[in-house]
Amino acid sequence: MKKILVTRKPPKYLLEHLKEEFEVEVWNSEEQKIPQEVLFQYIDQVDGILCLLTDQITKELIDKGKKLKVISNLAVGYNNIDLDAATSNGIIVTNTPGVLTETTADLTFALLLATARRLIEASNELRMGNWKTWAPMMLAGRDVHGSTLGIIGLGDIGAAVARRAKGFGMKVIYHNRTPKPELEKEIDINYSSQEFLLRNSDFVCILTPLTAETQNLISLDELKMMKETAVLINTSRGGIVNENDLVTALSTGMIWGAGLDVYEEEPLPTDHPLLSLRNVTTLPHIGSASVQTRLKMWDLAALNLTYALQGKEPPSAVNEIGDK
Ligand code: DGY
Repeated sequence: MKKILVTRKPPKYLLEHLKEEFEVEVWNSEEQKIPQEVLFQYIDQVDGILCLLTDQITKELIDKGKKLKVISNLAVGYNNIDLDAATSNGIIVTNTPGVLTETTADLTFALLLATARRLIEASNELRMGNWKTWAPMMLAGRDVHGSTLGIIGLGDIGAAVARRAKGFGMKVIYHNRTPKPELEKEIDINYSSQEFLLRNSDFVCILTPLTAETQNLISLDELKMMKETAVLINTSRGGIVNENDLVTALSTGMIWGAGLDVYEEEPLPTDHPLLSLRNVTTLPHIGSASVQTRLKMWDLAALNLTYALQGKEPPSAVNEIGDK
């Protein structure tokens, strides 16, 4: 029987299912991540690993996985895995695209609305007893309808956000490595350069994956290009936006606000300067967190791992492994 490691407590039905096929080691906690030294302890014993975006699957770890055939990530993003090291060791890497597209787009749009209309701040003011009277400009935010949304990264989630934005009467422009003329026609959106997008959008939404090319894609120069009334939304990965520069932009009025679900360091330290700013709406990386979607992600991650170990093509591999 092949042996696998699951790095977080899976749903009971899924664990039982996996146990019919494999010898299963589980890090049996929902809230605590598996320590790196425990990963190192198991990696040379297992044929497959079903891991989370919180696990750092480094070259050192991969090189130690002598039997390892598959790394199945429970996320669409896989920047936590050294893909080159995996590929050169002949290890299949898989992710969970598709099943989380609409849920993540819902959250992205919810965060955009919440930031624009200051929902969390307003609710907190009420709870703290600060609602003394109705006032004309009390907690006044920014209009979403009729404004321009700039999407950086038009993958499946970007397109799903664009569709929502059109329903809210927004004009949508996007920037992507490859223009997508068919989607432009279908959704009624326009391609633009990144600079044009930054200069002309009321809301800039980051939906590109974190790679060596997109690290710090939005730094001080880019933030300076944005309108003073603009809002930045990031539900992709933290390292794409330079956080020090973002704090500068938000605290000096360079931009109006930001809605963030992801950070350079997660969990975000409670003394982080972002948390002292009123014009930031902060969420703890919950983009795909609906019960239905998280279960679908577990199922797809398990299927990817099972297929790879059965010698079949997994539904969503991110690398190509030649014959070894
Ligand atoms: C992903 O799948 O990459 C998301 O960040 C998880 O919510």
